[in-house]
Amino acid sequence: MAEETLDLRHLAKPEAYALLAQHVDAVLAGIDDPVAGMATVSCLVHHAFGHLWTGFYRVVEPGRLLRVGPYQGTLGCLEIPFGKGVCGTAAADGRTLVVADVHAFPGHITCDGRSASEIVVPVFDRAGALLAVFDVDSDRPAAFDDDDRAGLERLLGWFARGERP
Ligand code: SME
Repeated sequence: MAEETLDLRHLAKPEAYALLAQHVDAVLAGIDDPVAGMATVSCLVHHAFGHLWTGFYRVVEPGRLLRVGPYQGTLGCLEIPFGKGVCGTAAADGRTLVVADVHAFPGHITCDGRSASEIVVPVFDRAGALLAVFDVDSDRPAAFDDDDRAGLERLLGWFARGERP
């Protein structure tokens, strides 16, 4: 199944994420390249759930600046300072943020006006340093919950694992 892009919207989230984690590992078997990992994870998560925007902002100046990385969706803004918007706040705090209503989040950066809710998950490398944040936007309010947080944190553990299968 490694070569397929799966649509998992018919499954309960925990089941979908478990399958997706296996799929990511299978597709990326033998690959030790964070950019290839980011491109693959963006594609698979985006199409599995039919999100609005799915992708990475990479740490280019630690503690200061994020720059867009591989993503799927409409044009993303290029750079986000640490502490700004949902992505910059998650990067500065080093923890996952689930935002039910982006319009109620102070300093939210609007790239696509259709965005209604989002989740941003920090991504750590194998040395434990912040490599990027993974940003997923939905056009539905309150689209993300604890199942997404747990599922995505597990999936993104790929970047911290030393040995690639
Ligand atoms: N929603 C983000 C900005 C990035 S775009 O949505 C692609 C934020 O406020 O951090």
